Amino acid sequence: MKKIIIINGPNLNLLGKREPSVYGNVNFDEYFSDLKQQFTDMELSYFQSNTEGTIIDKLHETGFSYDGIILNAGAFTHTSLAIADAVRSIQTPVVEVHISNVFARENYRHHSYLSEAAKGCIIGFGLNSYKLALESFK
Ligand code: DQA
Repeated sequence: MKKIIIINGPNLNLLGKREPSVYGNVNFDEYFSDLKQQFTDMELSYFQSNTEGTIIDKLHETGFSYDGIILNAGAFTHTSLAIADAVRSIQTPVVEVHISNVFARENYRHHSYLSEAAKGCIIGFGLNSYKLALESFK
């Protein structure tokens, strides 16, 4: 069974409450239980942190044994060379995910430090972006 982890970055613990017009009104725990029911052929885990270094530590911890990492680094996407370097430093392929279409938003969301280092990017499909990312690891 493939082992896949979803890593969510800052403020994504508030999904369902945070700017529902942009991010929807479903919280991630509910969505994650749906995903687990849909992908019974994969071993799924979920981790969230608001702290840059903790996200890097999780990438190091999982990045040599897991089969795939789905990373929504939130605002760190647009600021963190350190997370991009961590993605480059590990062996597990990383798919970058965004719930909103960052290209339809403010200019400062148009650049990602992570995209160059990622295996691929899935952007703008709401929470369904995570499902599409999981499909890519099938
Ligand atoms: C986000 C987009 C980022 O620009 C923002 O900072 C987030 C969420 C998304 O999933 O749409 O926190 O990564």
